[in-house]
Amino acid sequence: MDYQKWSLGFISLVFLLITSSSAELLIKQVTEGRGIEYNNSYSLKTNLGLTRVLREERPSSKIVTITSFSVIKGRSEAFESSTFEAAGYKWRFMLFVNGNQNDPDGGHENMALYVGIKETESFPRGWEVNVDLKLFVHNEKLHKYLTVSDGTVKRYEAAKTYWGFGNLIPRTTLLDPNEGYILHDTLSFGAEISIVNPAEKQEKITFISNPPDNVFTWKILRFSTLENKFYYSDEFLVGDRYWRLGFNPKGYQGERPRALSIFLYAQGYKANAVITNTWGSVNLQLKNQRSSNHIQLYSEAWCAIRSGYGIEGNSIILLEDLQNSSKGYLVNDAIIFEAELVKVSVTNIVSA
Ligand SMILES: *[C@@H]1O[C@H](CO)[C@@H](O)[C@H](O)[C@H]1NC(C)=O
Ligand SMILES: *[C@@H]1O[C@H](CO)[C@@H](O)[C@H](O)[C@H]1NC(C)=O
Repeated sequence: MDYQKWSLGFISLVFLLITSSSAELLIKQVTEGRGIEYNNSYSLKTNLGLTRVLREERPSSKIVTITSFSVIKGRSEAFESSTFEAAGYKWRFMLFVNGNQNDPDGGHENMALYVGIKETESFPRGWEVNVDLKLFVHNEKLHKYLTVSDGTVKRYEAAKTYWGFGNLIPRTTLLDPNEGYILHDTLSFGAEISIVNPAEKQEKITFISNPPDNVFTWKILRFSTLENKFYYSDEFLVGDRYWRLGFNPKGYQGERPRALSIFLYAQGYKANAVITNTWGSVNLQLKNQRSSNHIQLYSEAWCAIRSGYGIEGNSIILLEDLQNSSKGYLVNDAIIFEAELVKVSVTNIVSA
């Protein structure tokens, strides 16, 4: 299944869960927020926005539970929690059970929840704290947390010390006893706060055409005495990686019958290399020792990290042609392979 279908499937599943508790308004909200299309032209661009999912794990930063919710449910003034510490800073919830009229996303029909940053007096001038913020409302009936986020980074600074969601949850959904958000007259909500420190470094994969020392020649002597097994060349370094050639003089299963194949193997890495996959584009040659009529195969692969990943030059010559001395490939019982790595990738850690 491709990712798109998978994610639609997943969202449908979440829908199913929500639908089963008949949260029509919430569904409408979710649908509007994500702009979900039940067809194949699901567009990433039109699906940006608030995300609501139900999850089992408790929020990591803070949970607050208000008992006797009915006492405060009609109030328009904010509830402020204690100051709590998370991700190295001090924070405080501000909850408007009856909506925040000052928030354009809020209004009376939604419960609004915000997290403010506290004790910033000692911060340097021009301070900024970038936060990935998720807010939660516990659904006791489902034993899950409604998890609300919008994926953007919240930049706390002197001019903006509160971030949150004016439309955390529709009040009709929250207050509907069948939904399970208010059970036993109790409301529980929470937050997960993580600091977003922009990466300073990045891994950069660069492709080099015709890198230095990219031609390796391997002469095999006493060919007629070789056994039915793989023989390997010395290793040679091109780019960040050691390579070697290998072949079975009696041919190799799975190819044209009675033909010789040559393999280029990606081996270990040079000291201090950044270890990733390595691209290898290679011209594999069986040299004609009497003329320039060399046989050349081109092959390429994204070579795995593990040592011994082979790029195959399949059936470079039929054994009968090799044995035919007038052809010039087997001369004085010797053959010559050549590998020219025409393109390799190297990986470096550079500033982002
Ligand atoms: C699928 O969604 C796109 C984008 O909203 C819309 O233009 C199109 O008509 C829809 N197609 C079908 C078959 O519903
Ligand atoms: C060897 O190769 C030559 C030239 O391609 C060909 O004429 C000849 O028949 C071959 N000999 C055998 C024994 O296959």
